[in-house]
Amino acid sequence: RYGLAQHARRSGRHFGAAVKSRLLREDTGFRAAVARECDVVVQEYELKRGTTEPKQGKYDFSGADQIIDFAQDHGMRARGHALVWYAANPPWLEPALKSASGRERQRLMTSYIDVAMRRYAGRISEWDVVNEAIEPNQGRADGMRMDSMWMKALGEHYIDTAFHTARETDGRATLFLTDFGLEHDSPRCERRRTALLKLLDRLLGRGVPIDAVGIQGHLKPYKERFSERQFADFLRTLSGYGLKLSITEFDIADRGGPPSPEKRDREVASIAKAFLDVSLDNPAMGSVLCWGLSDRYSWLSNFPEYKWPDGQLSRGLPLDARMGRKPLWDAIAAAF
Ligand code: XIL
Repeated sequence: RYGLAQHARRSGRHFGAAVKSRLLREDTGFRAAVARECDVVVQEYELKRGTTEPKQGKYDFSGADQIIDFAQDHGMRARGHALVWYAANPPWLEPALKSASGRERQRLMTSYIDVAMRRYAGRISEWDVVNEAIEPNQGRADGMRMDSMWMKALGEHYIDTAFHTARETDGRATLFLTDFGLEHDSPRCERRRTALLKLLDRLLGRGVPIDAVGIQGHLKPYKERFSERQFADFLRTLSGYGLKLSITEFDIADRGGPPSPEKRDREVASIAKAFLDVSLDNPAMGSVLCWGLSDRYSWLSNFPEYKWPDGQLSRGLPLDARMGRKPLWDAIAAAF
């Protein structure tokens, strides 16, 4: 490999990206870029339950399989994203959960952990077991996300159950708790950091087998400031708990930045460098994964909060729409 993964290897780290099987199949330029730049891949959506279990107990892992096969063919690692999440679930699930009783409710969650982790045992080495558990704006003093069907049906212990089940199912996998909105120097992120640390205090105090925290790393520098000291302190607290760390969904929303693409690219790159320098300064930080690799396919171009109103592509990923390297690529390479 001659790309970012090679730079990452200098310090024993890994670099990867979220991919879609269709792009690996249909866009040879994209496929070559992933093979060149990455030594880890993760599914952008193809292991979410809404995709894999459209009808209860009827699984479709075809997309995820293609991505895992691609990883194996290219000597890459694969992450799994995500076993338990409040979003991207099949429509049958929430009604089933609501009408189920105690034990059955747990089974509606653990069945997916069981099936997915067994299927990929030995091939997926790390899993996002619970994604996005906190949301301090939903009325609870502890900052737990209340619009989660799991939280509503099972209470906070859904997280305990998920991690215990994951550990029992594949004892070799690294188990991640992942969340967003932890990066900036803003009241919003401060509340989210506090809620996450308190949650971890409770979970680790109960002996829940969490190995690692995934900081999603969706930066939005034109809405909220980034402060090196605050983020470094936060990472130090996490690694002080004995947890491994990764940046699992890195990208930069450039909406609101300077209109000149060249100028914006330079700004985005320097923000990325500051963020990654702090991240990689912590020895517990094992890998950086971008949420996509090329601006051509970034989710940021479609997401209501981040997309440009005039339809231009967001420029928040290391490769441009023609798979060329951007200043952001150089910033990531330099940060490793
Ligand atoms: C996003 C995908 O990129 C989109 O294509 C999809 O429509 C919605 O989900 N945090 C996560 C990811 O954990 O799973 C989300 O992925 C982006 C935010």
